[in-house]
Amino acid sequence: MIKINYEKAFINKDEIYAHKDEVLEAEKKLHEKTGEGSDFLGWVDLKLDEEELTRVKNAALKIREISDVLVVIGIGGSYLGARAVIDALSHNFKPKNVIFAGNNLSSDYLNDLLEYIDDKRVCLNVISKSGTTIEPAISFKILREYMEKKYGEDGARERIFVTTDAKKGVLKEIANNKGYETFVVPDDIGGRYSVFTPVGLLPIAAAGLDIDKLLQGVFDAKENFKGFNENNPCYEYAAARTILYRQGKKIELLANYEPKLHYITEWWKQLFGESEGKDGKGLFPAGVDYTTDLHSMGQYVQEGERHLFETVLNVKEPYRNIFFECAENSMDKLEYLNGKNMNEANHSAMEGTIIAHTNGNVPNIILEIEKIDEYHIGELLYFFEKACGISGYMLGVNPFNQPGVEAYKKEMFRLLGKA
Ligand code: PA5
Repeated sequence: MIKINYEKAFINKDEIYAHKDEVLEAEKKLHEKTGEGSDFLGWVDLKLDEEELTRVKNAALKIREISDVLVVIGIGGSYLGARAVIDALSHNFKPKNVIFAGNNLSSDYLNDLLEYIDDKRVCLNVISKSGTTIEPAISFKILREYMEKKYGEDGARERIFVTTDAKKGVLKEIANNKGYETFVVPDDIGGRYSVFTPVGLLPIAAAGLDIDKLLQGVFDAKENFKGFNENNPCYEYAAARTILYRQGKKIELLANYEPKLHYITEWWKQLFGESEGKDGKGLFPAGVDYTTDLHSMGQYVQEGERHLFETVLNVKEPYRNIFFECAENSMDKLEYLNGKNMNEANHSAMEGTIIAHTNGNVPNIILEIEKIDEYHIGELLYFFEKACGISGYMLGVNPFNQPGVEAYKKEMFRLLGKA
């Protein structure tokens, strides 16, 4: 189970537990659906339709059999969860069989993608809850036409999978019209909380990952992260970040020491940014990949404006270690590393950075994760979802809407001449 340490955030247990009533009030809103946004709480006590889960697994097997590459088209909550899990659980360098489109409006990106897939066997999974989001809509149109040209209407039908609303939206209409296999984004689960629905599960399973283990991590987390007590790091995290916000901190930096976790941070940024950044309030969620960013952002964190705190993801064990043999007087001048290993070096960098940054007055919350596998990633993502719901309600906002996202769309559509 995830462990939390907030000593280095200069917070003691009494301060955390002084927020008990407030946390429990937020929990009540989540569990009893009495707060704002209560129509979007299906993820809290996640229940999956067994028949649909079986269809997801079968579709994933078929995709793996008939294609070299699955192009997943979607943006925001219809993109980041799958990307985060797949990246976290895949080889750092081996090419992945799942690639992503529809998360930008760059013609260079889409042209490069079309070129990349041209000599490959391809399947598409287009994902959009509303079915009207412009970025995936454009990419889907171009890629669907490409697929029909490459495989014919019937062949394309075999290879295109649609994840959208059960009944409404343009995408649903296209799927009905063309006869594509569809999966449902449940009505009561918003985009950024949807990774454990077919939105995330189909691409994740198609990447060859074990979604049963992922879901086991989620279901255990669902049971474990309830009630305000020392065995619930999730609510302690929500309370700790709220305390730091109320002390005047403006930015939460999520720091990892594993390059594979980069997209977990991107997913986390969306989760907290869209959930809390409203009504002129909210911590700004930002991310750093250490040790890489210690050589860029490290200077700012150490000595820049003191308006931030760090939440450090400490992964206990890597899958594969590297052991050092460094002879005396060798030209590498690394004798001090003799008998040590790479993981020790990474952890020393982490511990040293925590000491240096806290000495520089940057509070550090530390989250310890056993290892990076399906089970623990499922647990971690649910941990963040629930902590976000709790701290969003503590902040006094509706954590489940995103009215601000509409503003740019309005201006863009005006410029594009959409009626
Ligand atoms: O969290 C959210 O609700 C958003 O980020 C959406 O997921 C994103 O805007 C994509 O929306 P849709 O799935 O309707 O295309």
